[in-house]
Amino acid sequence: MDLHLELDPRRKVASLEQALRAAIVERRLEPGTRLPPSRSLAADLGIARNSVAEVYARLVGEGRLEARVGSGTWVRGVPGPPAGVRVDRSTRFDLDLRGGLPDSSDFARSAWTRAVARSLADAPTAAFAYGAPEGAVELRRALAEYLARTRGVVAGAGDVVVTHGFGELLSLVARAIAARGGRRIAVEAYGHASHREVLAAAGLEPVPVPLDADGLVVERLAALAVDAVLVTPAHQFPTGVPLSASRRASLADWAGSAGAIVIEDDYDGEFRFDGRAIGAFQAIAPAQTVYGGTASKSLSPALGIGWGVVPAALRDEVLEQRRLSGSATDAISQLALAALVAAGDYDRAVRGARLRYRARRERFERLVAEGLPGTRVAGLEAGLHCLLELPAGVGEPEVEQAGASLGLRYGGLAGFAADAATAASRPPTMVVGYGAPPEHRFEQAVAAVVASVEAARRSAPRA
Ligand SMILES: Cc1ncc(COP(=O)(O)O)c(C=O)c1O
Repeated sequence: MDLHLELDPRRKVASLEQALRAAIVERRLEPGTRLPPSRSLAADLGIARNSVAEVYARLVGEGRLEARVGSGTWVRGVPGPPAGVRVDRSTRFDLDLRGGLPDSSDFARSAWTRAVARSLADAPTAAFAYGAPEGAVELRRALAEYLARTRGVVAGAGDVVVTHGFGELLSLVARAIAARGGRRIAVEAYGHASHREVLAAAGLEPVPVPLDADGLVVERLAALAVDAVLVTPAHQFPTGVPLSASRRASLADWAGSAGAIVIEDDYDGEFRFDGRAIGAFQAIAPAQTVYGGTASKSLSPALGIGWGVVPAALRDEVLEQRRLSGSATDAISQLALAALVAAGDYDRAVRGARLRYRARRERFERLVAEGLPGTRVAGLEAGLHCLLELPAGVGEPEVEQAGASLGLRYGGLAGFAADAATAASRPPTMVVGYGAPPEHRFEQAVAAVVASVEAARRSAPRA
């Protein structure tokens, strides 16, 4: 067969995996389609045959492909639209329930407009020249105060580096670690593939570490000879467990004795609903920890603003990497965010969003209990996503496909696994982001989730 896949020439293998996964989920590759032999696809793409075979094996591990002995690799699943589901192609993918996206319709437009106007009026002339690589001092001051107050972070304005979201911070820190000779970084066994790719692109090898009910199994780190670890202590992404107190203490001990860096991704630390928010890990190991946060969830990813609290021993190297990357954060947005924080509007936006997401989480659990009795919603009551454990016999790829037919975009847990063994280690579970749909479509979105699981259940072979 002739297969059209758009690959990024700089990262062909990773983009082949993404492109194949997307083509299967979006049904551009129908169930029952036979894929080209790894040898011929490798020759077409100019990559090693083993790399193609590994991509196929990972997608087999996720249940998206199946390898039939002697007859090649096939797209798994049931051909045709799931039984009983009305397919309306005009609504494809117009409900995005991927884990962790905020409700963009909720952006605090008037508060942001006021903050931009106020900061433009007040800014000194120097604000319109090239700015400092670490960001505007007004914002760094405001963030240091905010992070100390709300997350217990140990920081002064001089410790804060403003970046283009957490993604840029991760890239800069990884490059700084690689530039000083670091080679390996531990990652949680489940997480964003894009973050693992950022680390690999910076020259660090991501080494998966298992997770259990207490979060990252920190005891494994000592044997791995890693230079750093990337971790989501407040609310593991996407499995939803917090790192326990004893694991936090062990992580701090390990980092101190190994001289390693902990990169703390506090992407949704402000959104704990049960009033038992745990402060940032950084507070117990500030000299070893890079704390990272973002405005992507509290305000909007469109602003492209994140921040790091970077220990003194690494700061110059991180700023040097920023200089080399040619990147900078727009000064007007930084001043506006500083004004928003200073006026208390940022706190108000976070509080309002927390209440809304909390109510959505409760509604989600109630509607799922009614629509899908016997399924379990898991993951801490926090953030913008949760896990939906699927009924026996129902697989993630089938639910993804049924969801896609209904115009729903969401994925299974296996899609976040760092390796095939991890992908196969948990029962089929969907990662559901309840943050993104606008309020008036929320119930419709949950109904579509229920319908996608029901459709997959109906088409599952009877045990
Ligand atoms: C686990 C995790 N970390 C960090 C982020 C934020 O990334 P950024 O600030 O680059 O938008 C996200 C956003 O979805 C996320 O899910």
